[in-house]
Amino acid sequence: MQENISLKPYNTFGVDVSARYFAEVKTLEELLGALQYLKTQKLPLLLLGGGSNLLLTKDFDGLVIQLNLKGISEDVINENEVLVTSKAGENWHEFVQFCLDRNYGGLENLSLIPGNVGTSPMQNIGAYGTEIKDTFVSCKVLNLETLQVEEFDHQKCNFGYRESIFKREGKGKYVILDVTFKLTAKNHSIKTDYGAIQSELQNLRIANPTIQDISKAVINIRQSKLPDPKIIGNAGSFFKNPTIPLSQFENLKLKFENIPGYPNGEFVKVPAGWLIEQCGWKGKQIGNVASHKLQALVLINATGNASGKEIFDFSTMIIDSVKEKFGIELEREVNII
Ligand code: EPU
Repeated sequence: MQENISLKPYNTFGVDVSARYFAEVKTLEELLGALQYLKTQKLPLLLLGGGSNLLLTKDFDGLVIQLNLKGISEDVINENEVLVTSKAGENWHEFVQFCLDRNYGGLENLSLIPGNVGTSPMQNIGAYGTEIKDTFVSCKVLNLETLQVEEFDHQKCNFGYRESIFKREGKGKYVILDVTFKLTAKNHSIKTDYGAIQSELQNLRIANPTIQDISKAVINIRQSKLPDPKIIGNAGSFFKNPTIPLSQFENLKLKFENIPGYPNGEFVKVPAGWLIEQCGWKGKQIGNVASHKLQALVLINATGNASGKEIFDFSTMIIDSVKEKFGIELEREVNII
C-alpha cells in the first residue's frame, strides 16, 4: 500500500491528481485483503484497470486499487470453437494478439483498443462493426457487498451500445475478475462492413482477408486518426454517438442536408464527431485542452498539463454548443471521477 501518490501514470489522459492510498493487486487474495482494509478504514474506493476510460477531476481521498490479475486460459469446445478466458488485468490489445497468434477469430476488429480485459464488458467496447457482446460468454465478478465470487452470463450483463449492467444498476457493486469469450478456431466470420476497413484492405491490396489482415487494417485506421495515449493524453471517444428519434432526424435534415445518420428502427444514431466538427470545435484548443484535429470526438490533453477540471469544462462547452445548434444533448462516454 502506497500513500499520497500521483495517478498521472495510471490514467491515459495523463491528468495529475493524487490518491491518498494506492494498492496494486495481483491475486484475488490480495484484492480481498485490500477490501478488508477499506472496510476497517471506511474509505471510498476507486477501481482502476488500464485507466483508459476515465477523467479524474480531483484528488481522490480514498483507496485506489489497481487490478493486475494476469493469465489467459483456453478450453477447446470442438474443432470450430474455443473458449478463451482472460484475467481482468491483461492488456486488451495484447489479449487480442494472443488470440490472433493462435488463429482464434472474433476479436480482430477490436484491435488496438486501449485498456484492460476486465473493463471491456463495462462499456461493451466496440469498433469497426464489432462489440464484445458478439463473442462474450460470461465473466466472473467479486460482489463487493458479500465478497463472494459470482458468474454473470451474457443476459445478466444486459449489454447495449457502450452500456452494460456494470454502468447502470451494478455500478460500483462488482469487481470483474475475468472474462470468457467464445471464438472461432476455423471458418472465421470476416467482418468488413465498416467502410474504412474496406478501403484500407484495398490500400493493402488484400482481396480475401484473414483475421490477421483485418487486425492489420484496423490498426492502420486507428493509428492514422486516433492519437496514441502514450504520446498525447486522451481517453478515446469522449462522448457517445447520440441516438435520436427518426422524426427529429428528418427535421434536422431539412436544415442540415448533409447530416449523417445510421437508422435503427424508429431511431437514428448520429456521429457525435460530425456534430462537434460542425460547431467549429475540431482541432480547436483552449488552454491545455483540444478536440483532436483528425477526430473531433476525441478530446486531448494537448500540452500534457491539462487538469481534469479543464478537460471537463471544455467538454461542457462542446455539449452546450451542440445543444444550441442541433438541439441534441451529447452524453459523456468516459467516467468522470
Ligand atoms: N465524423 C466527422 N468529423 C469527425 C469525426 C467523425 O464528421 O471529426 C463523422 C464522419 O461522418 C464519419 C463518422 O463521423 O464518417 C464516423 O466516424 P468514425 O468512423 O471515426 O467513428 P465514430 O462514430 O466517431 C465510433 C466509436 C469509436 C470507434 C469507431 C469505429 C463511439 C463513441 N465511438 O467513433 O470508438 O473506434 O466508431 O468503429 O461509438 C472509443 O469508444 O473510444 C472509440 C474510439
